[in-house]
Amino acid sequence: MSDQPRTVGLLGGGVIGAGWAARFLLNGCDVRLFDPKPDAERVVGNVLENARRAYEQLTLAPLPPEGELVHVDSVAEAVEGAELVQESAPEQVELKRDLLATADRSAAPEALICSSTSGLRPSELQAEMRRPERFLVGHPFNPVYLLPLVELCGGAATAAETVERARSAYASVGMHPLVVRAEIDGFVADRLLEALWREALWLVHDEVATTAEIDDAIRYGAGLRWAFMGTFLTYRIAGGEEGMPHFLRQFGPALSWPWTKLVDVPELDDELVEVIAAQSDEQARGRSVRELERLRDRVLVRLLQALRVEETGAGATLAAWERDLLGRTPPAAAGANGSGPLRLTSRRVPVDWIDYNGHVHESRYLQLFADASDALLGSLGIDAEYLRGGGSYFTVETHLSHLRALEAGDRVSVTTQVLGSDEKRLHVFHTLYRDGEPEPLATAEQMLLHVDTASGRAAPTRDEVRERVAALTDLHGSLPRPGRAGRAVGAPRSPSV
Ligand SMILES: NC(=O)c1ccc[n+]([C@@H]2O[C@H](COP(=O)([O-])OP(=O)(O)OC[C@H]3O[C@@H](n4cnc5c(N)ncnc54)[C@H](O)[C@@H]3O)[C@@H](O)[C@H]2O)c1
Repeated sequence: MSDQPRTVGLLGGGVIGAGWAARFLLNGCDVRLFDPKPDAERVVGNVLENARRAYEQLTLAPLPPEGELVHVDSVAEAVEGAELVQESAPEQVELKRDLLATADRSAAPEALICSSTSGLRPSELQAEMRRPERFLVGHPFNPVYLLPLVELCGGAATAAETVERARSAYASVGMHPLVVRAEIDGFVADRLLEALWREALWLVHDEVATTAEIDDAIRYGAGLRWAFMGTFLTYRIAGGEEGMPHFLRQFGPALSWPWTKLVDVPELDDELVEVIAAQSDEQARGRSVRELERLRDRVLVRLLQALRVEETGAGATLAAWERDLLGRTPPAAAGANGSGPLRLTSRRVPVDWIDYNGHVHESRYLQLFADASDALLGSLGIDAEYLRGGGSYFTVETHLSHLRALEAGDRVSVTTQVLGSDEKRLHVFHTLYRDGEPEPLATAEQMLLHVDTASGRAAPTRDEVRERVAALTDLHGSLPRPGRAGRAVGAPRSPSV
């Protein structure tokens, strides 16, 4: 995407700074990072490793080549050549204000300067900048490389154009920018989260519930709905056929009782801190932070994928990002010069693909090939809009040859060659390779049929897709035909009776 920054300067490489590094690097941006902490490189490396693992599971769309990460020794070096500077230093006004003023002096005049602050006011943070108009808050959520929300909040001196530029830059790396209309402490999300957090602290303080029971109250119920309906849409439905007015009439009176402790805050004295720490350690059941982060990431990836199927909430953002990634891979990109088959998918084989025999289950081979067909169709322009228009390819036949064993942890890729096509059919040949090895692990020959999804009948491809299929077929027509193409199952003769 043209609005994507080529180089990003990061100030701070803790939980959030490292998450930003991962999101930008995996989206192909170069990153220059300054953090005075001696082990910042290790922290960022760990987060990046988590992120790579998560992205391998998250999408089949071809990711751009990873950007280059450089750790530098000063603010000036970090912002040098950066189109976007993201500050993620500790939440202290003075420290941030100084850091941002230094960045402002050294950065190119047109660079955007953003702060990850969870709730400090942008007007305060931009106070000592020479060019405060190019500053705003870009408040992300942990883990930054998976959660798409970024709240944008400008201060009194922020230019409207800065907000628009930041919106495009963050969207270009798969995020959902939410512009906060007024400058308030805590913005929108943390105001909501803090209200919940305060109530949770009271419940522990008053010994009404343990930390585990409070988490259960969220994750077995409302938490499941929040991921895609938020709070207002949830209650709109809870109001039944009469909708929101009914809900408000029914539960409105409770607001004046009230159930909650409102703005009172329990004192976080040693005793309460100890109780919360001990109870939450118990919840962790001996799992390290690393293990919990990976569990979190795996589940988030699956949730995002479920939401993508419905194109709702964060799933809609994921789908848009994938369309963008596919759009950046021009049809037949890998083989556009006719030099070889396409290589559109590559991934690491996850441990949970192993069956009871200790082998990768055979259905996973088909999954790898089906994913390659999907990536091919995406690159030919079969996107959500085309599907909404009622056209799609269905696989009608597959012949799969297992040649060598695949193992968990292997990094593999699939090459795809178009053997032929007409207005309704697309005949493809896939080959699965372990990275760095010339011998194939498996091959699959497939026939795909274009259908009109409304009638369920075969129908000609449309518009640009038709042209792209024809062009790719021509291009691949000059490649040698794979030796295994056209093979059938090598069955033994049945004994004569
Ligand atoms: N942790 C979260 O869930 C979360 C979510 C959203 C936003 N934020 C915000 O992000 C910011 C960073 O939070 P965090 O959780 O990553 O904290 P953190 O403590 O994990 O990381 C802060 C990093 O900043 C570094 N640092 C200290 N002084 C610096 C300086 N002068 N220049 C550059 N780096 C410096 C520290 O060495 C540390 O590595 C805060 O403003 C916080 O409010 C945090």
